[in-house]
This record gives sequence, structure tokens and C-alpha cells, in this order.
Amino acid sequence: MGERKRLTRRQVLQRGLAGTSAIASYSFLLEPNWLELVRRDVTIKGLGKGLDGFKIGLVSDLHVPRFIDREFVHSAMDLLAAEKPDVFCLPGDVYEGVRNDKVVSLKGFFDHYSAPYGLVATLGNHDYRLGERAVASRIRDDTPFKVLLNDHVPVERDGAVLALGGCNDLRWGRPDVAKTFHGVDPKVPRVMLAHNPDICEEWRGDTRVDLALCGHTHGGQIKLLPWYAPVTNSRYGQKYREGLVQGKVYRAYVTRGLARQFHCRLMSRPEVTLLTLRSG
Ligand SMILES: [Fe+2]
Repeated sequence: MGERKRLTRRQVLQRGLAGTSAIASYSFLLEPNWLELVRRDVTIKGLGKGLDGFKIGLVSDLHVPRFIDREFVHSAMDLLAAEKPDVFCLPGDVYEGVRNDKVVSLKGFFDHYSAPYGLVATLGNHDYRLGERAVASRIRDDTPFKVLLNDHVPVERDGAVLALGGCNDLRWGRPDVAKTFHGVDPKVPRVMLAHNPDICEEWRGDTRVDLALCGHTHGGQIKLLPWYAPVTNSRYGQKYREGLVQGKVYRAYVTRGLARQFHCRLMSRPEVTLLTLRSG
């Protein structure tokens, strides 16, 4: 057996510094730009055969204009567009800012994207902080997104129907799930854009929702362990950090989104999602 070499204090320190700088370089330079396309099938009870295979392209949490540029949004949208989604959904935090900040133009961000059932968005907490009306009109004027605020649009294909709603933000807006799906036949399946997934735990009311499409948590953005992020911006810790989650009230798909706040992500790559609905 060879003699084991003991490391000097200096060598331990040098290796520690090298490890720290490697993690820092990765989390600031590589991972924030390393997009992941997540594909997931989701069964929706009562979904008609005509909508079996309906594809939702989900992109969230842009946080324009800080820490993101048009090119990165194009890369994300191109990844999704290549999958030919039937609809694009954006559940909020299009912008980041505070009241009286300029609501910058979104011209050029989404000009070339289309889908058979269009593009729909709702607003997130950061959009409300900047100003609900100003942000909503910017999105309507500058992009092909239809903004749904406690409202829905019907989706019909080959005799099957689905209600696609957008609910206002749980903490900063005035969410109303009943209003969102007002007039929808109880038998019709409902998919709801809702920025903050905590709504799936806290909503009180008897309006059924079959799937909520959420963002907000950024997948924790910086994880210390693969299953643990110290900050999720959710009152329920890791529960709604990312992925398909059965909440107390509603089931949600929570995307990690594109956010690159402070130009940093660790073990939580920016995500675009292709959800394929399956009739159950
Ligand atoms: Fe966000």
C-alpha cells in the first residue's frame, strides 16, 4: 500500500477556491444560457378525443428588460416553435420593474411566432408592480399575445372543447377563478394560466380547474441540492418549485421559466415546456 499524502492547509484552500470559482463560472456564464425543452404528457379527465394530443408551448418569467435580451427570448421561442405547439401560453412576469419605470417596447420579441390557436398570456406579480394596465396594453400592442385577466377563450377541435383561462395574480392582482370560467359548461375541461402556483393550495371556491399552468418559482433558480432551493417565492417551500404538482385544490404544471435574475442559475436550467394533453 502506498503512503497516503496529506494535503497541506494551503493545498486545501487552493482546491476550495478552484472549486468555488468553477461553480461560479458555471452558474453565471453557462447555466443561465443553457435552455432546456421539457416534454410532458398530461392526462385531462373528460378531454374529448378531438383534443387528444393538443400541444401547449409554455414559456414564462421573462422579466424584461433586466437580465434578458431579445435573442434569448427568440432562442426559447424557436425551441418551442420547432415542436409546432397548438397554442403558446405565457403565465406572467413578462416584465420586471417598479411603478413609474418605463414599460419598454416588446416589438421584435414575438413578431414571427404564431400557432393555430394563437398565443395567450396572463400577468405575474412583477407585471402588477410595474402597472397592470400599462403592461397589458404593451403586450396587446406589441405582441401577438392575447392577455387574459380573469377571462377565458374557448378551444375547439374536431368536436372537442376546452376552456383556456387566464387568472389574475394571487398576491398582486384580484384573482377570480369563477369569473375566469364564467359561462363554461361544467363538463368542459379547463386549463388555467395562473402565475403563482400557491393558488393551487389556497383558492377557496367550487370552480373546477383541471390543470393550472404556472411559473413564478423559477425552479428555485439557485439550488443547493438537486431537491432543495433556499428561495422558491412560494409559501409552501419546495412543493411548487417545479414540474407537475397535485395541490390541495388544483393540479399545476410549474415551469422554471426563463428568468436570469442576477445572471445566475444553479441546478435549475431555464425551461420551455411542451405539454401534450391526453384524454383520460
Ligand atoms: Fe418571475
